[in-house]
Amino acid sequence: MIPELSFVSPWTRQPLTKAADGSALLGGPDERYPLIDGIPQLLIRSGQVQASSESQAYYRDRASEYDRGNEVMFAMLLADEEQTRRDMFAQLELRPDSRLLEIGCGTCRDTIHLLDMPIDVFAGDLSLEMLLTGQHRLRRAGKDTSRLHLFCADVMHLPFTDGFFDAAYHFGGFNLFPDHRQALAEITRVVRPNGRVVVGDEGIAPWLANSEFARILENSNHLFRHRAPLDCIPVAARQVTCRWVLGGSFYLISFVKGQGEPPLDLDVTFPGRRGGSHRTRYFGKLEGVSPALRDQVLGAAAAEGISVVAWLERTLGRAVQNAPCDGADDQLVANSFRPKG
Ligand SMILES: C[S@@+](CC[C@H](N)C(=O)[O-])C[C@H]1O[C@@H](n2cnc3c(N)ncnc32)[C@H](O)[C@@H]1O
Repeated sequence: MIPELSFVSPWTRQPLTKAADGSALLGGPDERYPLIDGIPQLLIRSGQVQASSESQAYYRDRASEYDRGNEVMFAMLLADEEQTRRDMFAQLELRPDSRLLEIGCGTCRDTIHLLDMPIDVFAGDLSLEMLLTGQHRLRRAGKDTSRLHLFCADVMHLPFTDGFFDAAYHFGGFNLFPDHRQALAEITRVVRPNGRVVVGDEGIAPWLANSEFARILENSNHLFRHRAPLDCIPVAARQVTCRWVLGGSFYLISFVKGQGEPPLDLDVTFPGRRGGSHRTRYFGKLEGVSPALRDQVLGAAAAEGISVVAWLERTLGRAVQNAPCDGADDQLVANSFRPKG
C-alpha cells in the first residue's frame, strides 16, 4: 500500500492524490497539503483558521524541551517509562498486522515501542516540530520505520475514512483538545466496529482528589486538576474500563467500538402490581388521571389479580371499541399476579 494514498481530505473525506512533483497531496479546490520531510501536513485548506491553534503554538515552542519534562514526570512518579507505556498500549490488544492510529504522538515516545510489533502504525500530531523531533529519535535509534506513517493533523478532523483502523491510541494531550466529546467521537469514527480505543491523560483518581499527593502535583501542573472525561465517551462504547496509572495521577480509558446505544429487550414483562414492559411504560405513556380514579384503577386491577398495565390495556382497548390490542389477552395472563398473603 502506498501510505500517502491512505489519507483522505480531513474536510471532504475524498481520497487525496500525490502531486506530480511529489511535493504535496492534493484534494479538491483549495486543498493542497505539503509534504515536509515526507510528513503530510493535513491541517488546513487555504484561508482556513486552525481550530486547535493554541495547542499548536504551545507545542511548537516546547518541542525541544518536551522530552526532558517527560523524563522528569516519570521520575517523580517513580515509574519506569518504557514499562508504563507498554502496559498502557497492551490494552489495545493488537494482533499481527493490526492497523493502529496513534494520535498526538508528540516526539514518538510511545511510537518507538509500538514499532517493535509487526503492525502498521499511523502516528500523527498537530505539531510538526514535535513530529520532526520524534522522527529524529526513531532514526537515531535505528528503528525499522517501513510500517510507520507519520502525519500532521488535528484530532478534531482526522484524514481517514470511517473504520480505517483496527485500534486507536492517544496519551498525554487529551485534556487540551478543544472539545473532548467531539475528539473522542472523531477518534472512534476512524476505528472499525469491534476495534478498540485507548485514551489517557493527567487526571487524579477520585479517591485521591483530596490527598496531599494530588495537591502537590496540582500545585506544579494544573493539568492534574482534570478528571477522567467519562461523560464524553460515545454511547456506542462497549466493555468500557477506566484505570488510573502512574500512582493514580493519570486516567486511562479503554473501550470497544459498538453500534448505537446498548440493546434492550423492550418486551420483557415485569412481574408485580405495575406490570407492563419498557415498551408500554416508556413508549405507551398517556396523560394522568385524577388521584381518585387512579386509586380506583389500582384497586380494580388488584381485585382481579392482574397488573395495572394489563387492566388498562384491556379496559381502554374495549373503550375505544376495538378488540383488545394484539396480545393483550396473552399479556393479561403473563402479567397475572396475586398479592402475597
Ligand atoms: C503531552 S504531549 C504527549 C505526546 C506523546 N503522546 C507522549 O505521550 O509523549 C501532547 C501532544 O498532543 C498533541 N496535540 C495537542 N492538540 C492536538 C490536536 N488537536 N490534534 C492532534 N494532536 C494534538 C501535541 O502537539 C503534543 O505533541
